[in-house]
Amino acid sequence: MKFFIDTANLEQICQAQALGILDGVTTNPSLMAKEGIKGKENIFKHYKAICDIVDGPVSAEVFATEFKGMTEEGEELYQIDPNKITIKLPCTQEGIKAVKYFSDKGYRTNCTLIFTVGQALLAAKAGATFCSPFVGRLDDIGEDGVSLIEEIVSTYRYYGFKTEVLAASIRHTNHILKCIQAGADVATCPLKSILGLIDHPLTTKGLEIFCKAAESMK
Ligand code: G3P
Repeated sequence: MKFFIDTANLEQICQAQALGILDGVTTNPSLMAKEGIKGKENIFKHYKAICDIVDGPVSAEVFATEFKGMTEEGEELYQIDPNKITIKLPCTQEGIKAVKYFSDKGYRTNCTLIFTVGQALLAAKAGATFCSPFVGRLDDIGEDGVSLIEEIVSTYRYYGFKTEVLAASIRHTNHILKCIQAGADVATCPLKSILGLIDHPLTTKGLEIFCKAAESMK
């Protein structure tokens, strides 16, 4: 089970990396825009800065929506750090073609905006390294995001696909726990949700008791 952080915020990425449990980073255009980054040169510099912080894959999403633009942009993104950059492509007809194009070249890809098993199946057939089902956004419309993770995991296992199920649009700590139970290979999470896995009132209380005992022995 791998943990990615879902942000483009360098401070938060550093904080998660310092915990020693971070396996990678995912970004998307909304998360990049939130950091106030403008212009291609700054966008590329920002991805490079992220790659320099973490050891694992860094998903960088293309802005283009048609095949030619996606492949040109993806190629440029990949060259920022061929050991880490994972080209993130939407699950559209053009996106699936681009996933296949890059997987044939041996490049890592993340097929994003997945909301059905059918989409996940096509992403895997095209050779995606990761498929990103959006858990929170399905919950938002009254569907069950975690059930989709379970269905994709069992479909991939049945057919022996190597594509990793990357649970995305995680909104809280319980989403992470449920996605782990559903068999997701990766959960990409906001920092707050990751930190929520650590905190427990009995841990805090127990530590207070131990600290008092330690103090009494000085
Ligand atoms: O990884 C995709 C994620 O960033 C989307 O999250 O909360 O905007 O649905 P959200």
